[in-house]
Amino acid sequence: MADYQSVPQHDNEEVGHTYDQPPTPKGPAFLRKKSTLLLATAAIALITTTAYLFGASNELSPRKVHFEDVNISNHHFAQGVKKCKAINRTDKHVYADPETRLQNQRFVNGTRPTLFKNGFIFDGEHEAFKGDLLIDRGLIVEIGGKIETPKNAVVVDLKGHIVTPGIVDMHSHFGVDSWPALAATSDTNEMTQPLTPFIRSIDGFNPSDPAREWILSGGVTTSLILPGSGNVMGGEAYTVKMRKVDTLSTDDMLVQAGEDDKWRYMKMACGENPKRYYGEYLNRMPSTRLGEGWLLRDQFAKATELLRAQDDWCHAAEELPKWGRHRLDKPFPEDLQYEALVGILRDDVKLNIHCYETHDLEAMVRHSNEYKFKISAFHHGLDAYRVPEILKRAYKVVPTVATFAGKFGYKKEAFQSSVNGPKILAEAGIPVAMKSDHPVLNSQHLIYEAAQARHYGLSELLSIASVTSVPAKALGLDHRIGKIAIGMDADVVIWERHPLSLGSHPLQVYIDGIPQIENVDESKWSVQEEPLKFEEYPDIVAPKSKDACTEKSESGVFTGIKKIILNDEEELFSQGGDLSVVIEHGEVVCTGHCDHRVASMKQAPIYNLGGEGVVLPSLLSVGAPNLGLIEIAAEETTGDGHPNLSSGILAAADGLKFGGLHMDEAYKAGVLTGVTAPESEHVVQGLSVAFATGAESALSSKGAAIIKEKVALHVRVGQDSKSVLFPTVSSQIAYLRNTLKKAQSGAPNASEEFVAVVRGKLPLVIEVDNRDEIIRLIQLKQELEKDGAKLRVSLLSATEAWTVAEHLAKAEIGVILRPYLCTPVQWTAQKCLPGAPLSKDTGLSVLYKAGVNVGLAAHEPEDVRQLSWIAAWARSDLNLTEKEAVGLVSWNLAKIVGLPTGPSGLVIYNGNPFEFGAKVSAIVGGGKTGIQCNPRAF
Ligand SMILES: *[C@@H]1O[C@H](CO)[C@@H](O)[C@H](O)[C@H]1NC(C)=O
Ligand SMILES: *[C@@H]1O[C@H](CO)[C@@H](O)[C@H](O)[C@H]1NC(C)=O
Ligand SMILES: *[C@@H]1O[C@H](CO)[C@@H](O)[C@H](O)[C@H]1NC(C)=O
Ligand SMILES: *[C@@H]1O[C@H](CO)[C@@H](O)[C@H](O)[C@H]1NC(C)=O
Ligand SMILES: *[C@@H]1O[C@H](CO)[C@@H](O)[C@H](O)[C@H]1NC(C)=O
Ligand SMILES: *[C@@H]1O[C@H](CO)[C@@H](O)[C@H](O)[C@H]1NC(C)=O
Repeated sequence: MADYQSVPQHDNEEVGHTYDQPPTPKGPAFLRKKSTLLLATAAIALITTTAYLFGASNELSPRKVHFEDVNISNHHFAQGVKKCKAINRTDKHVYADPETRLQNQRFVNGTRPTLFKNGFIFDGEHEAFKGDLLIDRGLIVEIGGKIETPKNAVVVDLKGHIVTPGIVDMHSHFGVDSWPALAATSDTNEMTQPLTPFIRSIDGFNPSDPAREWILSGGVTTSLILPGSGNVMGGEAYTVKMRKVDTLSTDDMLVQAGEDDKWRYMKMACGENPKRYYGEYLNRMPSTRLGEGWLLRDQFAKATELLRAQDDWCHAAEELPKWGRHRLDKPFPEDLQYEALVGILRDDVKLNIHCYETHDLEAMVRHSNEYKFKISAFHHGLDAYRVPEILKRAYKVVPTVATFAGKFGYKKEAFQSSVNGPKILAEAGIPVAMKSDHPVLNSQHLIYEAAQARHYGLSELLSIASVTSVPAKALGLDHRIGKIAIGMDADVVIWERHPLSLGSHPLQVYIDGIPQIENVDESKWSVQEEPLKFEEYPDIVAPKSKDACTEKSESGVFTGIKKIILNDEEELFSQGGDLSVVIEHGEVVCTGHCDHRVASMKQAPIYNLGGEGVVLPSLLSVGAPNLGLIEIAAEETTGDGHPNLSSGILAAADGLKFGGLHMDEAYKAGVLTGVTAPESEHVVQGLSVAFATGAESALSSKGAAIIKEKVALHVRVGQDSKSVLFPTVSSQIAYLRNTLKKAQSGAPNASEEFVAVVRGKLPLVIEVDNRDEIIRLIQLKQELEKDGAKLRVSLLSATEAWTVAEHLAKAEIGVILRPYLCTPVQWTAQKCLPGAPLSKDTGLSVLYKAGVNVGLAAHEPEDVRQLSWIAAWARSDLNLTEKEAVGLVSWNLAKIVGLPTGPSGLVIYNGNPFEFGAKVSAIVGGGKTGIQCNPRAF
């Protein structure tokens, strides 16, 4: 690892001299010869000669190497020379043509060849094609129309299913931030000092992290295991394959296990994270970006010094024979603290930098040119789309941007992001990769990021490339992984449907030619027709009429509609797409077959959906944290604040701020109504408010911006509510019990909200995840009801609710799952189903089958705009009807929190909203007047 295996590719001026052009009048030929001689005689005894000779030779030894104390051993001198040779290699990181590979280094003896027949192959770069694929010796060995079945081969009939290369996640903390999250399993950030380029994720990596199986089941075959982003220089990273190794050895999981010429990786970070932690919490440097810049430059300056000392040593060693000398006085200069940084300067270490803001990116580009280091990739980089030209100024290579498709707003540096970012970057010639941030974003669903990028305009091929060939290249591993081509590692994924379609999942995953998912019955695979072609639907064209598509458009006719779903009962479908919707004076007056109405409205502008239109009611967000209460989660001053333990029952209505980006994005995605509760450290969170997401203020919509001031009383039980006042979960449940009983007993000082709860007038929403806690709460409800109380209880978050689904159904307790697909991250909520292909069921499917009234909530405020996709995903997993899927994010939730179940507005799509590609064409209602056309995500 510490060997310098490669030739520096720096410009000649950057290190003072190079081996290619030694600063000697004798020329390279002479030196090459001497150098060979030098090696040959390295074992010969030390010849002592006076120093004067050399001391005087400034011209030939400009680095002032002192020969006076010629005292290092032959052995150490030879070691140093060996290192010089390694540094000076000209073939560094030059890999043999994959087609000449005889065997994958990671090949497991005894693995039989596998022939995949009748596949539809996306190779990671080019247009898909139909064909067969043969893997053997852990390699892809043949691709073609029809391949002969070799002796001994396993034959898998793909029946037209899509094959892609294994997914490469270039930003994961799998194994260093293992499930479940405990103080003991957190090995991501060594945050005792901001500069730790010398630590290595491999030293903390836990190959038994249960996340491995989940991640792999999502088609991810390779991950770059990065240290966290808390430090300016975070440490070294490693690439592992997600295949289980019987040895439980981290080393055996490395992609480059057994390879001589390994790439190394480094993680650094700029911007908010380091300064926030060290400055704000520890009051030490860096407390600003200024400090971060200095710390980074100072390190690189020191690393450069070491690099020069090494080069000088090598140079001097080479020059020695000329002076009749054979050894130097000092060993080859090394310093473990700067070793990895010198590796970056020598182009042996690929640098991956967490960086968001335009000025952070530019600062890093500036440093790269000052110290002559390449930036392999900027990670997250949500602002990068604004400065592609700055990225191109980086030293020697254009960095890859490894990013998210739809995340935004959680901190200031993520606030200016755009869903169009990946497309803009790609068009500007910047390589774009999608990555997780596992476990922050479950790597299992990385393909969903690529699919979103596709929806927002990145091409189909680039979207697939963004999780295969692009990250593989950024990792310097494109001779091994990320493509389906002859000689590549046999890491391939067989997909249930097109991988970029909503809810698609792998059927089987191969790593090094070995199938990874157990108990897969290939004979049950369906026959696939031609894979989905992405439908591109046009934006709606504003009618010529005055005021069309403005807040003044009080009336209008929507035609060319294929499907209308309004509520639990009403659903209309017309194959010919000849349904319509009529709006008059801001009211929906007809839906469906409205010819009669249309005829009477000759003046009204006509909005034509081209026969593909779909009309849904407003979607409803309940339980997404902080929507409307705080704009940038990491910035207290952008929101209401976090009440602690002292105050009475607060109403979110009093802290609500209209007009923010999160609300606006929700509105534009057809989530016209939001229900938000306050957040507190207390068991009692407070009263939720229902509001129109499109409203400008509480005064707009003639006061109807606030739909309901007091929707439900929200309480929270579990780990997150442990506090000074409630140090135990049992104390939380005891508090709830006492307060509810007091309310029921009619005590004069009982809180009015709890009285409303026990009378069934105010729904009670309990945020809870653990099964045993849920059971205690079911029992509490029954206890109270035995005494005559009436409660409308539902559970929010509810990771383990499915384990008691039947009891919940019987107790008439609704469930709001947040998120839809859980992860076993919390110790007390590990009962969590991974979904296909690992489990047939999900939490939702179990609850659904048991007859529990269940709805879905966005996990983060920025995910509210994805509610329709979350529902569509559930639809795909559970084989729900479209109406049932809509119910999960509208009327089911409305019933749970006691809001009207009818549409409070209409959302008109230009295509099928249950698949990527369709967009909102028009919105009626949601706190705005008139008809809003073609609202687009920011
Ligand atoms: C480095 O390589 C150059 C040319 O490839 C050669 O002239 C020089 O002697 C080498 N130096 C060392 C220290 O191996
Ligand atoms: C080599 O010489 C230097 C300078 O005279 C001295 O400080 C050092 O201890 C010597 N090292 C050994 C291993 O003798
Ligand atoms: C694999 O098998 C080959 C030939 O059968 C043998 O030479 C080699 O040592 C084996 N490798 C391992 C790791 O068992
Ligand atoms: C509540 O907040 C106040 C003001 O910040 C603080 O003084 C008090 O200690 C807090 N109480 C608890 C229990 O955290
Ligand atoms: C409420 O009244 C009960 C007696 O009915 C008393 O014990 C309790 O301290 C009172 N609590 C508060 C908060 O005033
Ligand atoms: C899905 O449901 C439809 C009816 O809505 C049914 O025809 C179809 O067979 C179901 N598919 C599966 C895989 O269960």
